[in-house]
Amino acid sequence: MKTEILEAKYGIEKGARLITSGELVVFPTETVYGLGADAFNEEAVKNIFVAKGRPQDNPLIVHISSVEQVKEIARDIPDSFYRVAERFMPGPISVVLKKGDKIPYAVTAGGDTVAVRMPSNEIARKLIALSKPLAAPSANKSKHISPTTAKHVYDDLNGEVALIIDGGACNVGIESTVLDLTTDIPTVLRPGAVTVEMLSEVLGEVEEKGKVIKIAKSPGMKYTHYAPKVHTVVAVSVASAIAEYDKCVKNGGKPVLVYRGIYGDDLGDRNVIDLGRTPEDYARSIYSALRDAEEKYDEIIIEELHGKGMEFSVMNRVYKSAGNKLV
Ligand code: TXA
Ligand code: MG
Repeated sequence: MKTEILEAKYGIEKGARLITSGELVVFPTETVYGLGADAFNEEAVKNIFVAKGRPQDNPLIVHISSVEQVKEIARDIPDSFYRVAERFMPGPISVVLKKGDKIPYAVTAGGDTVAVRMPSNEIARKLIALSKPLAAPSANKSKHISPTTAKHVYDDLNGEVALIIDGGACNVGIESTVLDLTTDIPTVLRPGAVTVEMLSEVLGEVEEKGKVIKIAKSPGMKYTHYAPKVHTVVAVSVASAIAEYDKCVKNGGKPVLVYRGIYGDDLGDRNVIDLGRTPEDYARSIYSALRDAEEKYDEIIIEELHGKGMEFSVMNRVYKSAGNKLV
């Protein structure tokens, strides 16, 4: 199959036609690019798993273009959903609800719950409004880094999809927060730009338990996502980053430090990819930095952050990239 890349002004209508006829279309969102199919079309949804090489037991998020549309996707929708929606939708959050009858089990990996998200990216919402709610995972090959540009998608999925709609670089840069509202206490299954602190202002109590519980509940959390192709570690201090770097050089390797410019740490003339200054910069640039680094270097050493909120969400992805290897 030939993969076409089109700007939004040409791509949205064509994308809507392809979706309605059961094809897969890649579209931009504010978090990462999504690989979309008509969420009501079981065959089309199954093809997402084939194109990505994704395990069948990992459910997909259904993307909607208006809050109203949630009624087609889920049932017994609690008031808390509408409170979250009023404050954070459209935006980088997915909410797990009870599955509605029209959604095939291929979307939910056999489960009775479904994740729903209304992206703030207008290209995404227009595409959905012109076609169908879209079941969509991140548009990367399974286990690789999530794509934040159309080129990242092309590098992974060329030949697997008919159309990639190019909406430029994603603004947020890491995947949406996943919030489960089917539990007694609302539970964050995947941290993201809508943080647990922000959610607790609306919901009162929100759980964000240790990694073990997240693994048990959100099927995707048990897989090694976001892994670059080369050895990747997290450095707990500047000294250990430099020691690891110099060890790699001594062994004939070509390492890179992935760092924020904020502290002005003296990294000498070592190879550095600068992630900007704020946690938001860090989130926006981390996946591009990792894709860039894996092409040019043979070891990636990433700065550890210790903050809450967005820093916590970014580090969740960084630790996964490094398979939890600390130096
Ligand atoms: O920002 C995002 O969420 C992006 C864009 C494209 O919207 N999508 C995305 O999809 O990251 P994916 O498939 O790569 O990750 C979805 C995560 C997985 O960890 C999955 O297990 C979890 O959401 N998930 C989906 N449905 C669920 C459900 N019913 N219950 C619990 N977790 C669910
Ligand atoms: Mg993904």
